[in-house]
Amino acid sequence: MMSISSKIVGYGHCVPQKVLTNDDLSKIVDTNDEWISTRTGIKSRHIANNETTSDLAANAAKMALINAGIDVSDIDLVVLATITPDYTTPSTALVMANKLGIREGVPAFDISAACSGFIYALTQADNAIRLGQASKALVIGAETLSNITDWTDRGTCVLFGDGAGAVVLEATDNPEETNVLATRIFADSKHIETLKTNGGVSTTKSSGFIQMDGKEVFKYAVNALANGAEKALEKAGLNANDVDWLLPHQANIRIIDGTAQKMGFDKAKVLTNIANHGNTSAASIPLTLSQKVNDGTVKKGDIVLLTSMGAGFTWGGAVLKI
Ligand code: UT7
Repeated sequence: MMSISSKIVGYGHCVPQKVLTNDDLSKIVDTNDEWISTRTGIKSRHIANNETTSDLAANAAKMALINAGIDVSDIDLVVLATITPDYTTPSTALVMANKLGIREGVPAFDISAACSGFIYALTQADNAIRLGQASKALVIGAETLSNITDWTDRGTCVLFGDGAGAVVLEATDNPEETNVLATRIFADSKHIETLKTNGGVSTTKSSGFIQMDGKEVFKYAVNALANGAEKALEKAGLNANDVDWLLPHQANIRIIDGTAQKMGFDKAKVLTNIANHGNTSAASIPLTLSQKVNDGTVKKGDIVLLTSMGAGFTWGGAVLKI
């Protein structure tokens, strides 16, 4: 039997124009550039002004479609990861589909898996393609975390940023062309209280703001990121020596460095954009990936190992051959 798999044919991204520097933040809360830079690696982040999550997603998706040379009318699946939807319903995937002009009948839905959202979304789209349920899919991670950030809490507000990243997946029956080599996703509900919003539709009738036990998240993150990466590599039948680039969720440079060290990766092999974007949750991996592919850092044929960890806790990994 002929087996179908996915290849990535386009990458896109979008960030809001407004930039908030650490010095800007020091005027809002009791903090300073030195603390933020040394503890997190973040120097600035993009913050939405009037842009909604679906606006950022639509722009990232348009860029990915142009990059792929694919017409929007050919898309037959949309999967969008976010924890900052435009509305409670309909999904941000549908709001974005309306903006893009995705044709009637095409399924579009959101995935909520916090910072692991993109790897969860990629997994669902890749599965749909492998089952023959879709042939050209848009997979997007998009967030306006600034809307659920408590701007009076210096322990969290310095960490987050807004943005979106997208890829176009296409079905192929040629194993040589496959470039989503493996995906793995995981969760452990024991940790639902450690990183969460302090509200939600059926509890407080509002979205709430992000709260967390930063130290607990930090401790868990390095192990979870390494675990997601290792499980994905194992599934792909590869080992760390085969990997050209490690692309971890951009949460904190110390978490990224700790993960690279635990896995034995040289820093020069680690892709980051945290300095200028902060933690953009579900957008962090596709945003970094699109930037690094489009600026030529990541080249055709390179093996990129994605790994993420987020609220829940959720985590996961994926192996791509660009
Ligand atoms: O996608 C996952 C999302 N979450 C994360 O990635 C969070 C993971 N955790 C972290 O990144 C780190 O735990 C933080 C960056 C959040 C905090 O770093 P830390 O080294 O764990 O600092 P801390 O919480 O132990 O705080 C040390 C000190 C405290 O003061 P005292 O008690 O020692 O006097 C804090 O009050 O730093 C203080 N502090 C700040 N000072 C200046 C906390 N936030 C700030 C701030 N500016 N923004």
